[in-house]
Amino acid sequence: MGDFQTEFTVILVITLISTILIIWKLYKSSHADTHLPPTPFRLPVIGHLHLLAPSAHHAFHKLSMRHGPVFRVFLGSTPCVVVTSPEIAKQVFKVHENVFSDRPQNSSVDYMTYGGKGFIFAPYGSYFMFIKNITVSQLLNAKAGESVELEMLLGRMTNNVISRMVTGNRGSDEEDEAEDMMKIMAEVDKLYGRFNLSDHIWFCKNLDLQGLRKTAMDIRRRFDVVTERILKEHEEARKQNMETEVKDLLSILLEISEDESMEIKLTRENIKAFIMDIFLGGTDTAARTIEWALSELINHPNIMKKALEEIDQVVGKNRLLQESDIPNLPYLQQIVKETLRLHPAGPMTQRLAREDCIVGGYRIPAKTTIFINLWSLGRDPTYWESPLEFRPERFEDKQADCFTWKAGKYGDLTSVDMEEGIAISLPRANPLVCVPVA
Ligand code: HEM
Repeated sequence: MGDFQTEFTVILVITLISTILIIWKLYKSSHADTHLPPTPFRLPVIGHLHLLAPSAHHAFHKLSMRHGPVFRVFLGSTPCVVVTSPEIAKQVFKVHENVFSDRPQNSSVDYMTYGGKGFIFAPYGSYFMFIKNITVSQLLNAKAGESVELEMLLGRMTNNVISRMVTGNRGSDEEDEAEDMMKIMAEVDKLYGRFNLSDHIWFCKNLDLQGLRKTAMDIRRRFDVVTERILKEHEEARKQNMETEVKDLLSILLEISEDESMEIKLTRENIKAFIMDIFLGGTDTAARTIEWALSELINHPNIMKKALEEIDQVVGKNRLLQESDIPNLPYLQQIVKETLRLHPAGPMTQRLAREDCIVGGYRIPAKTTIFINLWSLGRDPTYWESPLEFRPERFEDKQADCFTWKAGKYGDLTSVDMEEGIAISLPRANPLVCVPVA
């Protein structure tokens, strides 16, 4: 009796699953559009969301082995296309630049940027061009023995550089502020790296199943407190004519926001969202790239030696390396390029199709999200010989008080693990801990 019941249940389950699959297949074939890129089998409601763990760029890389360099995936009901070939990426970025000039929004980005009022995620249009011009013209051309956890140290360093650029202080003078900002950016980085079910499954739209909305609200509230404080200090200094000769980004933005003749009126929220973008774009990306580079150098002592010899020769032992030395350090530049090839901070860049378009011979319908898998492009054996090998010399023909490092808390490790963590800027899974050796 027990056996019969088990058999009956198994048959019932198989019949049910088969019926669902047949109905699903029939539905799909009746709606098939042969000009669309291929797509793997997808589940009802969630689409391909179940395939994306632990990180989407790895999952898409694996899928591209089976489905080719352009294929479709569905994040819940959101149609997406993944691109993993440089020729097709070129079609997206260059040939059809106007069609793919928007970046897709999600609810976390929308909330954190005060409704798309920043730079990186602003829709293409007059505001985007206005803010881009300000950044390029005003900001980028405006002015001339103990173990250490490098993730924290590098994060603090890049945070200080960006702090100085944005607010004029060195970070170390205003340590609490810089520390708060660094923590906030690490949380934004993690938040942006998560797929929010509410964005992709229609009946979850108003639910906060993963708690991401609550997290976003908490982060933005803290960010608001820090930026309001910095903004007020700047406004006070402006009122009392106490601004320094070299203007920082905030002073420039405040000046523009008060200028009635400007074609676009910058609001306080625009300024805050812009600050968020610059901190997010410039701190973790740069810190993580340096951390990955040092990890590779520790695992390749011969490359580390060659790099140090080059620095010794160009910079010498009596001063620190400066930005102006970089053109004379070709091997160091090759190391940076090789690091970005294997460990690109921001492993996938995204665009949104504004209208229907043909890419790689396939029809891409309007409103499709395009993922360009930069991580995958850097590891494609068609373009890179022994792609998994860290070999800066491959860039040799493609040109644009120093100490060495020992890995581990006690400097006793001969190599470090190269496991990836999860966040939008591609962190290491385990922070790099090293001992500097004179
Ligand atoms: C190693 C360091 C960095 C890496 C790996 C990196 C990576 C990236 C990537 C992958 C994109 C997206 C490109 C696209 O979708 O077309 C991007 C855009 C951007 N990044 Fe960076 N970034 C770095 C440093 C910085 C710094 C230092 C800043 C600011 C001071 C910055 C600000 C921006 C901005 C504003 C954008 C948007 C540009 C636009 O839409 O035109 N980034 N970055």
